Amino acid sequence: MCGIVAVTGYKKALPLLINGLEKLEYRGYDSAGIAVINSESKSIVCNKSEGKLKNLISNLVDTDIPGTVGIGHTRWATHGKPEVKNAHPHIDNSGQVAVVQNGIIENYQELKIKLEKEGVVFNSDTDTEVIPHLIQKELFALSKLNLENNGSTLLVAVRNVISDLEGSYALAVLWAGAPDSLVVARRHAPLIIGLGEGEFICASDTPAISNFTKIILPLEDDEIALLTPLGIEIYDSDNERQYRNPIPLQITEQVLDKKHFRHYMLKEIYDQPETAKNWLEKYLIKDSKTGQFDIKYSFDTTFFESIERIEIVACGTSKHAAMVGSFLLEQFSGIPTNVFYASEFRYSPPPLLPNTLTIGVTQSGETADTIAAINMEIKRRSAIGDAKYKPNLVAITNRIESSIGRQITNIIDIGAGIEIGVAATKTFFAQLLSFYGLAIKFSQIKGSQSEKNIRQLISELTKLPPLVEELLEKHNQSSEKLAHDFFNIKDVIFLGRGINYPIALEGALKLKEISYIHAAGYPAGEMKHGPIALLDKKVPVISIATPGEVFDKVISNAQEAKARDSYLIGVAPECKGTEIFDYLMTIPSTNEWISPLLAIVPLQLLSYHIAAHRGLDVDQPRNLAKSVTVE
Ligand code: AGP
Repeated sequence: MCGIVAVTGYKKALPLLINGLEKLEYRGYDSAGIAVINSESKSIVCNKSEGKLKNLISNLVDTDIPGTVGIGHTRWATHGKPEVKNAHPHIDNSGQVAVVQNGIIENYQELKIKLEKEGVVFNSDTDTEVIPHLIQKELFALSKLNLENNGSTLLVAVRNVISDLEGSYALAVLWAGAPDSLVVARRHAPLIIGLGEGEFICASDTPAISNFTKIILPLEDDEIALLTPLGIEIYDSDNERQYRNPIPLQITEQVLDKKHFRHYMLKEIYDQPETAKNWLEKYLIKDSKTGQFDIKYSFDTTFFESIERIEIVACGTSKHAAMVGSFLLEQFSGIPTNVFYASEFRYSPPPLLPNTLTIGVTQSGETADTIAAINMEIKRRSAIGDAKYKPNLVAITNRIESSIGRQITNIIDIGAGIEIGVAATKTFFAQLLSFYGLAIKFSQIKGSQSEKNIRQLISELTKLPPLVEELLEKHNQSSEKLAHDFFNIKDVIFLGRGINYPIALEGALKLKEISYIHAAGYPAGEMKHGPIALLDKKVPVISIATPGEVFDKVISNAQEAKARDSYLIGVAPECKGTEIFDYLMTIPSTNEWISPLLAIVPLQLLSYHIAAHRGLDVDQPRNLAKSVTVE
């Protein structure tokens, strides 16, 4: 989603801004822009462009702006189309104030109407544009008090304005009247200050900072900061100055290297054997004396003993991982578990029950709905004041330095390494592994599975790296060929049952996200209750059929599709029953519990090749963002 970069210091701002914006490109955006205070003319120079960052860069080729203070932005449209006029920065009518913002200003309409009545001319359709106009108005009012033109005055003006804003924001403000200063503020949207030598870089996400410094000061909610080359002043919402120590930027890998792959997504699909290996090494610890395996977390899990039920909040792909997790936690570990769309949970939470563990799953750690759902749960549980109802929290994330990582102590780091492709692949795989870890842990604590069964599951998990590698070998080229047959396809149905129903949902989501083909996933047994009406020879059906309790049922459901002339693709081992499929994407015949970790791989490859064959922007699909920081 939108990205912010802002700098102040002694080096030229423009190259730093462009470099920072390049590092945020992976988040998904539709326009970009920068504003720098020209240190000679003391005026704001702004340049914006529609589309990719390369368009902005080519606008600026041969442009040398003498100035060390600037702001930059990649925009993901919410209010107003992706056009130059709606790209950030937004400037007030005097040209003195420039603002970039992430988030949504919910009361912008009423503020806009008021400003228009006062004669302000709006040049965009965005919610953001009210902010520079309001700041300019405030600066004008402050000028009557004979305040000096400096960063402190800008700080007061911005503080007065944000107190009138409703919604969420991370923002960075420049004022030509204070040419060495930058004011930044946040509410429910991330913003991190990186501390360099005599300069500061502020950004909405760490990759924009990591080349610049490894020392950061994350801004907390409702804080505002003034940054000049001389230092930082941070204030909370009560205008109390905040003093705290910077922290190291905890980033294990920032290698934005595609290697020999055409797209990051394909590279990330190929990273999965390594993801499995890393997970096994990090979390599966063998006791040298007993030879027993244990799952090791960085936090004390003693409180798991009192847990009687689990609720999981997540969005998109993370929710699909959570659904597999819920299956494991209920069916393997015997703990009643419910999964909720975080966006639904926020407004219709279930009645509170005692001794509940709440798990938030988010690869980015910044998803606004997931964070808000967790916060709401903390609030309503804390309000009861009964130990049985207290919030017990765990977050599963790939970004321990993210908002959720800073907020929740009990973090399960999925450790997949940064994922650049907007469509989640290896982070989904690593989230699944985290749930296997939790299911093993809870089974051991609750004694809900025999040691033999637990040992068997662990042993299957240890075999994953070579199995996934084989799957990649086997299916990459064949999926590429199969992708040709999907050129004119408009709808695809994915079917799965039991533990693989969420894999059908994830297979459909992957295809939709990057190829723009309509796809829907269903529990195989539900097809005859409605979706079957869609089937004919133009609608392929992809069915996940793994040996186990529901295998025969899935095969019969596939028969029903075949009888309606659908082209049938099976994701299944070569075994009796699978001859029904017109095309078989074979997976190894393993223990059913671990089948989701295998079944997802050919589906990821097929989606990837269909999109690549269509010549689409696989890594940055239209309208999507890597981290969805608005509601
Ligand atoms: C994944 O391919 C999607 N881009 C999207 O559904 C994503 O999973 C969702 O927005 C949740 O993101 P999170 O894991 O960062 O919270």
